[in-house]
Amino acid sequence: MRTSVLLPALTLAASVAAKTLDPLSLIQAPRPGVGIASPTGHAALWAIRSWNQSTLTRSSTLYALHLPTHHDAAEQSSELEELVPVVHNATSAFWISPEEAAYIIEDVMYVKNLSISQQYIDPRDPGARVGHLPAEVTSLRVARTAKGQGEGTATLVFSAEVYEDGSLSDVKARDDAEAEEWSRVKSYENVPIRHWNKWLKPGKRSQLFSLDLTRNKKGYETSWLFAGEPKNLLNGTRLEAPVPPFGDESDYAVSAEAGLVAFTAKDPAVNAAWHTRQHIYTVPLDGSEAPRQITQGDIGATSSPEFSPDGNHLAWLQMARDGFESDVRVVQLHNLETKETEQLLTQWDRSPSSLSFAPDGENLYLVGEDREQIKLWRLPVLDKRTQSEASQNGSTLETVIRAGGVGFIDTIPGGGAVITKSSMRSPADLFYLSEKSDKLIRLTDITKNSLLHGLDLGPEPYRFNYTGAEGRTTYGWIIPPPGYDRYDKSQSWPLLTLIHGGPEGSWENNWNVRWNPETFAAAGFFTIALDPAGSTGFGKKHQEDILGSWGGRAFYDIRAGVHHILQTFDNVDAERVVAAGASFGGYSINWIQGHNEDGLFKGLVSHDGVFSTLATFYSTDELYFPEFEFGGVPWIAREGYERWNPERFTGNWNTPQLTIAGRDDFRLPESEGISVFNTLQRRGVPSKLLVFQEGHWVVDERNSLRWYTEVIDWLKKYSAEQAPESELLMAETVDAAEVDDSSSGLLFQQQ
Ligand SMILES: *[C@@H]1O[C@H](CO)[C@@H](O)[C@H](O)[C@H]1NC(C)=O
Ligand SMILES: *[C@@H]1O[C@H](CO)[C@@H](O)[C@H](O)[C@H]1NC(C)=O
Ligand SMILES: *[C@@H]1O[C@H](CO)[C@@H](O)[C@H](O)[C@H]1NC(C)=O
Ligand SMILES: *[C@@H]1O[C@H](CO)[C@@H](O)[C@H](O)[C@H]1NC(C)=O
Ligand SMILES: *[C@@H]1O[C@H](CO)[C@@H](O)[C@H](O)[C@H]1NC(C)=O
Ligand SMILES: *[C@@H]1O[C@H](CO)[C@@H](O)[C@H](O)[C@H]1NC(C)=O
Repeated sequence: MRTSVLLPALTLAASVAAKTLDPLSLIQAPRPGVGIASPTGHAALWAIRSWNQSTLTRSSTLYALHLPTHHDAAEQSSELEELVPVVHNATSAFWISPEEAAYIIEDVMYVKNLSISQQYIDPRDPGARVGHLPAEVTSLRVARTAKGQGEGTATLVFSAEVYEDGSLSDVKARDDAEAEEWSRVKSYENVPIRHWNKWLKPGKRSQLFSLDLTRNKKGYETSWLFAGEPKNLLNGTRLEAPVPPFGDESDYAVSAEAGLVAFTAKDPAVNAAWHTRQHIYTVPLDGSEAPRQITQGDIGATSSPEFSPDGNHLAWLQMARDGFESDVRVVQLHNLETKETEQLLTQWDRSPSSLSFAPDGENLYLVGEDREQIKLWRLPVLDKRTQSEASQNGSTLETVIRAGGVGFIDTIPGGGAVITKSSMRSPADLFYLSEKSDKLIRLTDITKNSLLHGLDLGPEPYRFNYTGAEGRTTYGWIIPPPGYDRYDKSQSWPLLTLIHGGPEGSWENNWNVRWNPETFAAAGFFTIALDPAGSTGFGKKHQEDILGSWGGRAFYDIRAGVHHILQTFDNVDAERVVAAGASFGGYSINWIQGHNEDGLFKGLVSHDGVFSTLATFYSTDELYFPEFEFGGVPWIAREGYERWNPERFTGNWNTPQLTIAGRDDFRLPESEGISVFNTLQRRGVPSKLLVFQEGHWVVDERNSLRWYTEVIDWLKKYSAEQAPESELLMAETVDAAEVDDSSSGLLFQQQ
């Protein structure tokens, strides 16, 4: 039952508790995209997706909203902006001119003039048709050459998956012709054969295209049309951009001023399954020349290429070590004229995740993790101090946004920026950043008109610290359940420990639909989200402490975090501790199984976790990952794999566990989950297996609902005040002394 926000608080009393964030509310909550500022900074586009569980439909609406002018910004406007629905179910929206939004609906591009009176904007009307695209295209960007009204031109850049001939128009015909054979047989002469959740089709790759558009004037009407054929900018090369599986429009940049597209692509000279090396390339926007390689040498991955507004400089992020997917990203600044590249912030102990030039071209904005927040920094780049040795440590950085989860920044050519930012308690909202005053003005309130409005989220989550492995200060979040009162000794709460994946990852102050900590708290758990050794955002030392120590420092940090909570909070019950995690978190759960002699954890949930470190090396898609984490390939460096292999400790497995696997999880294939389940069943340990038709992540909304329901039920059952003891009697008991559980020595059973 839903309580009305209009009722006076007194009448609500104790009998009608406010609704909390249950899994159904979570999956039906709005899923906002990023804010895209118009070239003149008058408005922004914002798409919001949603799921309706009663009709089982997914829909989206593209909205437009006004942006404050500099003047408004100075006056401290606190009004939220009205969201004007532009069109339903469109994708890939962008501004094609200062007044017109363009987007794609089922392979057709449309345009809508947003300067007309609001009452005439009908979101059910797709708009003016521009043209049909012969294949599925993604990651659109436009090099704006259209100036205001009337006639004009623009150049569109997008990506599409094509075969060796590079042709966009033949893709669908060839896919159809080969579909039946492909479903029966797949043939490979090289790895990788699969990536993330997809079988790779040899010879097929994502490439970048450019397409000119013209605007014709017919009387009072103007219309955009495709002018000519799309040009494959990477034709005849083995380059692939954006880089799968997560590459998107941030993998490339366009500059009308420079007449260039800059992009990152895997080095085609080395095998992508065991190299992370990505070079930066540039290619003329008109495809008149072949791509030119900008970076050289044995580097790691590159990302986030961006042109300066005048088109004279190119900046990007670069990792030094090939093979290490989580190496520190260092800012590179390249002068396109002199062809010199400078490295900035080489001594800074943080790793930015994206960059963009400020409109003045004199500063770079950097987004990155710092102690469980995703911050925004500004770095002066034309200032010579920045390049001096003394300031390589970040002393010239200014922190612009220090709390929350910055997702995206879109700078406005005339100054200022639109920021997309979420928090642990709210999906993303849009904010306007006034460049002069650094003032952040809230433009939207996503929860206000959604079913999240009025939910009781409980006390604010907050960060805590404790002493972890080797005496280091270690951090985590406490997410208290609704109704929690620290000083009420009559309360008694179960403790849920969430363990993130990676291992190079972190629990941030941002919103996620998967592993949403607030949803676990709402289910009645005193929830902690720990950032043990390996976690990002605390500097290189903490992050790299995980290498070659998977069940070592991180496992110590997890247990120490739990003990810290039990010692600090009187009303958290030491007899009702449970834990859950995915990927590396799932590995940690399987490791806990073998090392839970004191019975600290009463119930466990492992999602797509490693059962055997050796088996996963031999079956995973990205071989560089285990190679780097465990110190080499197993036929040479077997020791690291053996030492941290959960499979070696199955003789200790006695804790009730729910195990979850994905049929299309090619990172940690379903056999890992099945192996865990076989072991638990054979040993008579209470256990359950869920196999989803999903990849490494549960994405489909119905699957997500089932996932939360099952995980919460399992955790509740084994953290109940009356735990189901009888079932536990079925489990075989093994003398712990028989099993080596040394996590500090080098002992392992050799065959
Ligand atoms: C789902 O759709 C139904 C029917 O259109 C509507 O009544 C209901 O409010 C929708 N639910 C949500 C959460 O939007
Ligand atoms: C959007 O698409 C969904 C399903 O794909 C459909 O049910 C819904 O009616 C569409 N919405 C509009 C307004 O066209
Ligand atoms: C958009 O509509 C406005 C108002 O009708 C008009 O003045 C303007 O010329 C139109 N813009 C374009 C690019 O057609
Ligand atoms: C790619 O290059 C080949 C050979 O030069 C040419 O025949 C083909 O038309 C080009 N395709 C595209 C889409 O540009
Ligand atoms: C960076 O180096 C400068 C000069 O050596 C020093 O003054 C400053 O304190 C350092 N800043 C940080 C953040 O370490
Ligand atoms: C750790 O937490 C304590 C207590 O909340 C706080 O006073 C202290 O500043 C924190 N220490 C660090 C290093 O963050």
